[in-house]
Amino acid sequence: MATARRTPQELRSYRWFGPDDLRSFGHRSRTKQMGYGSEDFAGKPVVAILNTWSDLNTCHTHFRERAEDVKRGIYQAGGFPVEVPVMSLGEQFMKPTSMLYRNLSAMEIEETLRCHPIDAAVLMGGCDKTVPALLMGAFTMDLPCVFLPAGPMLRGRWKTETLGSGSDVWKYWAERCAGRLSCDAWNEIEDGIARSAGTCMTMGTASTMAAVTEALGMTLPGASTIPAVHAAHSRMAAACGRRAVEMAWEDFKPSRILRRESFLNAVTALMALSGSTNAIVHLIAMAGRAGFRLTLEDFDAIARETPVLANLKPAGKYVMEDFHDAGGLPALLNQLRDRLHLDCQTVSGQTFGENIDGAEVYQNEVIAPRDHPLSPEGGMAVLRGNLAPDGCVIKHTAMESRFLRHTGPAVVFKDYPDLKARIDDESLPITADSVIVLQGAGPVGAPGMPEWGMLPIPKRLLKAGVRDLVRISDARMSGTSYGACVLHVAPESSIGGPLALVRDGDLIELDVPARRIHWHVSESEAAVRRAAWTPPEPRFARGYGKLFSEQVTQANEGCDFRFLHHGPSTPEPDIF
Ligand code: FES
Repeated sequence: MATARRTPQELRSYRWFGPDDLRSFGHRSRTKQMGYGSEDFAGKPVVAILNTWSDLNTCHTHFRERAEDVKRGIYQAGGFPVEVPVMSLGEQFMKPTSMLYRNLSAMEIEETLRCHPIDAAVLMGGCDKTVPALLMGAFTMDLPCVFLPAGPMLRGRWKTETLGSGSDVWKYWAERCAGRLSCDAWNEIEDGIARSAGTCMTMGTASTMAAVTEALGMTLPGASTIPAVHAAHSRMAAACGRRAVEMAWEDFKPSRILRRESFLNAVTALMALSGSTNAIVHLIAMAGRAGFRLTLEDFDAIARETPVLANLKPAGKYVMEDFHDAGGLPALLNQLRDRLHLDCQTVSGQTFGENIDGAEVYQNEVIAPRDHPLSPEGGMAVLRGNLAPDGCVIKHTAMESRFLRHTGPAVVFKDYPDLKARIDDESLPITADSVIVLQGAGPVGAPGMPEWGMLPIPKRLLKAGVRDLVRISDARMSGTSYGACVLHVAPESSIGGPLALVRDGDLIELDVPARRIHWHVSESEAAVRRAAWTPPEPRFARGYGKLFSEQVTQANEGCDFRFLHHGPSTPEPDIF
């Protein structure tokens, strides 16, 4: 696409470096303090590399060296690279949940871009929440930017078996709880399941968010599946650097790339991949930052008409390395051209249709042919009913099909500590037909809506061979998880949603084909319970936790903060 180029004087950074005044003297002299000369930065686009590297983010250990590859590309294209460390949201170590900090990180990204002399940015993220956080901040700030996904780690191995992040942990933990896996075997699995830098290599949340970012048009073509330690990843990093320089000259910013249809493309990719339910919350929030309204109905409508083509764990058999070798996301989406808005713009400067033109599938067992899909419709469904008036979601391609229509008595836990304390109590009145209900795990209640939604199955049932149960909560679920887990119930229990009023023994009916969830309690009985209900005490009395609980929206609204929603633009720094 031919685009008018800006002059050096029109670059945003010129305000810092260009004028002949006292402040600019300071900016130039302090840049020279770092060893740079005028020839390094004068009149050149300043491209920030927002790096989410951290020793506490195990998935991003390659980001220090990868930032050097990005710099190489920026220098090649005539830009001035500046590496800027930003908050890293490592999924493994952050407690109670990294989701509590997604919005804090998004605020940091937005303000970091705003307050510095930055013309464009390469956003380096991958581990789950880093992706929406970087994009939410960047969309709001609306500077030219390109996303570099961390890339998946190598496949896990145990003996001759491929291990998938998360998914096989749950599987073998269940075997261990059932007494069928030795301690030595468990230790061998621990040694082999995470063998390199990179994100979870199943179609978990990280791989899903990378894919939807590519489908949105915010990565270069093919970027979302390149394994983290593949040489092609270094080359992609350099390409991102080069492209960011061009985007700075073109002022090619998110508001010139994104449309509502870009987000619909992302939803189609999500469904065809049978990706993580977490992407629903993040995409709604990201669209909101870009000024578009995405609803649960959009997800359900697209799910009904999108076949699942990716045979990837946890819903399928293969891992991300296989997906990349089979042709990756462009090959998969090239089969769904009639379902996509091909004229949407992308960071490459080409349309989305041009990006995927000619992309071939090399292995049909990994990427199924359009006329032989793994499932005729998308991997998840949005349910509504008197238990979830504002909706809830279920990943029905990753559960036992006998639960697609099911009615069972509730076994209720008032919060996660209650669940942990009682789930393995031998006297718990629970059977394979019961419906486990967890309250107090939503955005406000937990707070932060942790990934507790794959509620544990009691050891007594595991030993009896039960591997799935209907489970309902206002929590989220890891993208690597599976099971008949109804998630994101809205409104959540802690703000008085109907889930708060469910008691042991109440019958709950799940009907996925009809998109319905029904709580068999009369309106009069529900009213009596509501009159007796009191909201729980907020967990945080001060600080960020208090801000979060007061400002976070519900799951169906994306869990962004109300004061961060798209609205009047924030002034640029104008006092130098
Ligand atoms: Fe980082 Fe899964 S733990 S992507």
